Amino acid sequence: MAVAPRYYIRTFGCQMNVRDSEIMAGELEQMGYRPASGDAEADLVVVNTCAVRGSAEDHAFGYIGNLKAMKQERPGLTVAFAGCMAQEPGTIAWLRRHAPHVDVVFGTHNLHELPALLERAAGSREMVVDVWEASEEVQSNLPSRRAGGASAFVNIIYGCDKFCTYCIVPFTRGREQSRPVADIVAEVEALAAQGYQDVTLLGQNVNSYGHDLEPTADLADLLAALEPIDGIRWLRYLTSHPKDFSQKLIDTIAAGSKVTRHVHLPVQAGSSAVLKKMNRKYTREQYLDLVERVRRAIPDAVLTTDIIVGFPGETEDEFAETLSLVEQVRYDTAFTFIYSPRAGTPAARWEGRNPVPEMAKKDRLNRLMALQYRISLEKNQAWVGRRDVVLVEGVSKKDPTVWAARSGTNKVVLLPREPGLDLQHRFVPVRIAGARTFFLTAVRTGDPLSPPLPERGRLAPAPVPLALSL
Ligand code: 5AD
Ligand code: SF4
Repeated sequence: MAVAPRYYIRTFGCQMNVRDSEIMAGELEQMGYRPASGDAEADLVVVNTCAVRGSAEDHAFGYIGNLKAMKQERPGLTVAFAGCMAQEPGTIAWLRRHAPHVDVVFGTHNLHELPALLERAAGSREMVVDVWEASEEVQSNLPSRRAGGASAFVNIIYGCDKFCTYCIVPFTRGREQSRPVADIVAEVEALAAQGYQDVTLLGQNVNSYGHDLEPTADLADLLAALEPIDGIRWLRYLTSHPKDFSQKLIDTIAAGSKVTRHVHLPVQAGSSAVLKKMNRKYTREQYLDLVERVRRAIPDAVLTTDIIVGFPGETEDEFAETLSLVEQVRYDTAFTFIYSPRAGTPAARWEGRNPVPEMAKKDRLNRLMALQYRISLEKNQAWVGRRDVVLVEGVSKKDPTVWAARSGTNKVVLLPREPGLDLQHRFVPVRIAGARTFFLTAVRTGDPLSPPLPERGRLAPAPVPLALSL
């Protein structure tokens, strides 16, 4: 009997890419491939790339470089290059020149072509390139192999129409395209039947969900349609744009019992002048008003954000407005980035004329991080003594005596392992016992709220083909 070929997918970037990798895995398994535990054992390596910042691209190019040596040792190895970088002009020419060991290139709009492309590559000595325009419709409802556990990602809207001036995503992921409510409800019902209990709805801008549907719908309608599905405990959504975060949505989250109390509201900058140049379509005051309304309706909400420092022309005073906004909102966590010019975007042209000096960018990032870390610790300390429910993700990689779990508010919570009690992928009531900047510690206060997962979710001993690195 022939041995099944084995695949390994290396995923860079955001949750959308993680989900795309699950779909690629599903397609490959339908073709007869089996997962490999790493690239060293694989017959096919797919590199699913991210283009959002230069650092993500450098990682992908570095990895492609490593695969060159691997392919010299194992000439039978097939290398596929996928994801957002494939959609960028210039990448294919670069690959032809610097990475001829890449066999297949495909983009974010033709995932469903992967099997056909691999077949073409098998009969060809040339690089097989098939990247569809980002204007093409994305095919949804494709087979997939989910990473397992109790948590699942569900796409609800593809693409982004916002065109923030720094961002490459509208170019690599194309125009907004919502999936019909009925398709999403059916997918979540099927997930619940398989034992998934924690569902994250995905989109580059989930708040504009449904405007393109016939009849139109919105995220609040979708959440209301998903609430009654038995078996689902947590509904989450990523990622939000403050401009489209409606009062109806706030009220729906407040009234619901399953939508988690975590509100990620990427602010990007604290100065209205910078926000205008970023084309964010809100002012500092409008953003602060939104925060106020969220806090009033959902008092226990945990707020997190994304911030860019060193946007072209950002002055010291404008940066000080970012610091003061962070002081004022007091986020639980902030993801902070140095502005990275992306070819073809308006801001990249301004960077050529009026860049913030490299030293100032780094200094601003350090000052922002120091402020946020102090606030994160204070926020976490306020949780000590409180009760919560956490979902156990697995044994901590750093300390095998503790479970690593996550709260509905997306905080990492560590709790001691107890002999004879397997909590993997189960919901557990806890009391928060201690706080650090990046995690909480807790003790169990009662029996797990959910049984062990059915067999399909027990991925622990089996190789997980998805490796995520930003
Ligand atoms: N440079 C730096 N950060 C960026 N982001 C998006 N584009 C850029 C860029 N060109 C950040 C934003 C966004 C997050 C996902 O990545 O903060 O919210
Ligand atoms: Fe990029 Fe702005 Fe769209 Fe987010 S909303 S993906 S930052 S263009």
